[in-house]
Amino acid sequence: MFSLTGRVAVVTGASSGLGYQMAKGFAGQGADVVIMARRLEKLEKNADEIRAMGVRCLPIQCDVTSTEQVEKAAERVIKEFGKVDILVNNAGGSRNAGVLDMTDEDWEFTINTDLTSVFKVTRAFGKYMVERRYGRIINIASIFGQVGNTAINTIAYHTAKGGVVNFTRAVAAELAKYNITCNAISPGYFETELTKDTLDTEEFTQFMKATVPLGRYGREGELNAAAIFLASDEASYITGQNIKVDGGYTSV
Ligand SMILES: NC(=O)c1ccc[n+]([C@@H]2O[C@H](COP(=O)([O-])OP(=O)(O)OC[C@H]3O[C@@H](n4cnc5c(N)ncnc54)[C@H](OP(=O)(O)O)[C@@H]3O)[C@@H](O)[C@H]2O)c1
Repeated sequence: MFSLTGRVAVVTGASSGLGYQMAKGFAGQGADVVIMARRLEKLEKNADEIRAMGVRCLPIQCDVTSTEQVEKAAERVIKEFGKVDILVNNAGGSRNAGVLDMTDEDWEFTINTDLTSVFKVTRAFGKYMVERRYGRIINIASIFGQVGNTAINTIAYHTAKGGVVNFTRAVAAELAKYNITCNAISPGYFETELTKDTLDTEEFTQFMKATVPLGRYGREGELNAAAIFLASDEASYITGQNIKVDGGYTSV
């Protein structure tokens, strides 16, 4: 079960963090992998490591907020591999501030990076999935897309990730007739470049211990099982869902 041999998986935001971990997870199941982000040097290093696992890996430098770059990336994937089976919209970032303090610029940056990009990348790659009547789209949302929080003021990120969750349901409904599934994964707290400065503090660690039933941050690779499952043929009747991989945070 859960073999991805013969599949082509595209992962955005795979120069670091959860995206790179998921890309390696897919490669471990036999998929060829396309990794996308802005930092080409990091992508190339990651691609070497993925190729050493015995699959093909294509790094593509792409800013997912740029319609032109995203469209070109999709064309390149089709030219190189002839198809796209799995798409993970993982790229993300945030400028944090509360609702009373946030600037227009920081709001737009965060909404573009975390939400509009998911639309642009899905539009660009989705049309090739429609042609072949096959696709697995996985959107990385967040626990902050389900609930507010009392630890960090980050209104635009909450808004964008909430949007990703309902975008997922709407795409699932629209594209189901083409045998394309679309699901979300909502991670809890994982230590990555994005979160390190916050998670490493004593104050946040205490907050996490009081609010995460499993009492710890997510470990490297712990998001992969959900991603591999949703990408697999075995998950063929699951669409429009949102799996929380959060140590129980949203259950209490
Ligand atoms: N870590 C957590 O606790 C946590 C919790 C919930 C949700 N998430 C979500 O998980 C996803 C991955 O985050 P992470 O924690 O792994 O952080 P990360 O290590 O900072 O990874 C973010 C990735 O997104 C890429 N990226 C950012 N802006 C981009 C853009 N405009 N175009 C293309 N790529 C872009 C970055 O690469 P470049 O800089 O090279 O472009 C990087 O590869 C994000 O959507 C995040 O919101 C994370």
